[in-house]
Amino acid sequence: MQPDIIITIDGPAGAGKSTTARQVAERLGYTYIDTGAMYRAATLAALRAGIALEAQPLAALVGTLTIELVPGPSGQRTLLNGEDVTEAIRKPEVTSAVSAVSAIPEVRKSMVARQRQIGMQGGVVMDGRDIGSVVFPHAQVKVYLVANIGERARRRLQDLQAQGEATTLDDQIQQIEHRDRLDSERAASPLVKPDGAVEIDTTDLSIEEQVGKILHLVKNYQKAYAYISAFGNL
Ligand code: DC
Repeated sequence: MQPDIIITIDGPAGAGKSTTARQVAERLGYTYIDTGAMYRAATLAALRAGIALEAQPLAALVGTLTIELVPGPSGQRTLLNGEDVTEAIRKPEVTSAVSAVSAIPEVRKSMVARQRQIGMQGGVVMDGRDIGSVVFPHAQVKVYLVANIGERARRRLQDLQAQGEATTLDDQIQQIEHRDRLDSERAASPLVKPDGAVEIDTTDLSIEEQVGKILHLVKNYQKAYAYISAFGNL
């Protein structure tokens, strides 16, 4: 029998991680875990509390938070201390502050511990910035999704316009470039292509194609697993 494995999907904002990860999870009957939502929930709590976005106050705050990711009929819901904040964590105020909050090592330590707890039994597709590099470096299937900046900004613009936010393509290009810089240049667990991850450029791919490529990697892993189980590791 095949074990329930861990699939990690990392990459920059707008590369298609969440849509792809959700569909891969659905196809395999796995749980999808959006770790960005956890950093966003912590950021929302900090903004509501009006604390400085610095190590000491943030460390004290995150220890007190309950953050749950629960499946809902239209996708994963995020609960902060029992309150459904799924929509609130996508607001521009949270998006502007989340890179600063997620750069704090104490915040990361708390989130990484929670993510390991959730994913360690396997049967999960987890997306984020450091999942294949830090949270689960020994995951069986590791993917690094990229896409060019224009395409990433166009996707973000579509999402935000669907939520009724007034914004432009130029705004999104600037914001994504800024977040890319913060996420890749921070000292604590910067965004990197994890060792052993397979890079997929999604610029010209449909969602179905991206999902297909990842399912193919899973099949390859399962074939190798079956072979080694039958014949040993020669
Ligand atoms: O994927 P997203 O836009 O919802 O992520 C929000 C922010 O959280 C992103 O700017 C970087 C941070 N993040 C992180 O540092 N590590 C993760 N595993 C996931 C997200």
